[in-house]
Amino acid sequence: MTDSNRTPQHIAVIMDGNGRWATAHGLPRILGHRAGAAAVRRVVEACSELGVQVLTLYAFSWENWDRPADEVHDLMQLLNEFLVAETPRLLENRIRLRAIGRLHELPPSVQEHLGRVIECTASLDRMTLVLALSYGSRQEIVDAARRLAEQVQQGALRPEQIDESRLAAHLSTSDLPDPDLLIRTSGEQRLSNFLLWQSSYAELYVTPRLWPDFSREDLLDAIADYERRERRFGQVTDSTRGLHIPLSDPATLPHNGASRC
Ligand code: IPE
Ligand code: IPE
Ligand code: MG
Repeated sequence: MTDSNRTPQHIAVIMDGNGRWATAHGLPRILGHRAGAAAVRRVVEACSELGVQVLTLYAFSWENWDRPADEVHDLMQLLNEFLVAETPRLLENRIRLRAIGRLHELPPSVQEHLGRVIECTASLDRMTLVLALSYGSRQEIVDAARRLAEQVQQGALRPEQIDESRLAAHLSTSDLPDPDLLIRTSGEQRLSNFLLWQSSYAELYVTPRLWPDFSREDLLDAIADYERRERRFGQVTDSTRGLHIPLSDPATLPHNGASRC
């Protein structure tokens, strides 16, 4: 059971382990990715039923372009198939599709399919599904910095006006809440260039489960774990306050040799 008051508003997932799943089953890597697509379907459905507002899935990183050309080609094919097959389900479940990343680098056919599904689901409001494609967080931050620099160059902005909210406004996630819970499957304990800025205070959950095996129960376990945590955002809360012992005013501390260096 999940506590609906504490259900994460935004869940982000690094869907990892398709290749290892395929190897473990004696299959080519692409069949691991295909099994991964089935896991996407399960998790999207479960999240929308649980009242999660935003689900961001890391589907293809900027660095993934450097994989063997046939794997990249197959992944793009699979993405097209997924977009065609899932559209009726997205419409039925009122799920809006979004995409983040350097989308102009995707093959034209993927851009077309993506654009069509994004357009026909734009007004749906039960949940937003964000696909991170050709996505790299460092690249996203660089792009945002470049746009701010252009505004400064044009005289539309002064450097001292650049703050966190202005930078965040130039990220592809500007209209989305930050992720509350970031799940990574397959046991790897790294972010691999995913939502570095946005995940500053996300709760991290790493499971050894390979992505194609990730089930609704695994999702519920991750959410239950999240619900047990105390998010402090750098603050002190009742459970961490402890006793307060007044210390001497630093101004009254005796000077010694160490203070001179
Ligand atoms: C994640 O699975 C999917 C993508 C990166 C596209 P991997 O393909 O990285 O699977 P492993 O890590 O090799 O098992
Ligand atoms: C991260 O997985 C990218 C996606 C899940 C799309 P990778 O398998 O590419 O990341 P590394 O190489 O293990 O860091
Ligand atoms: Mg991997």
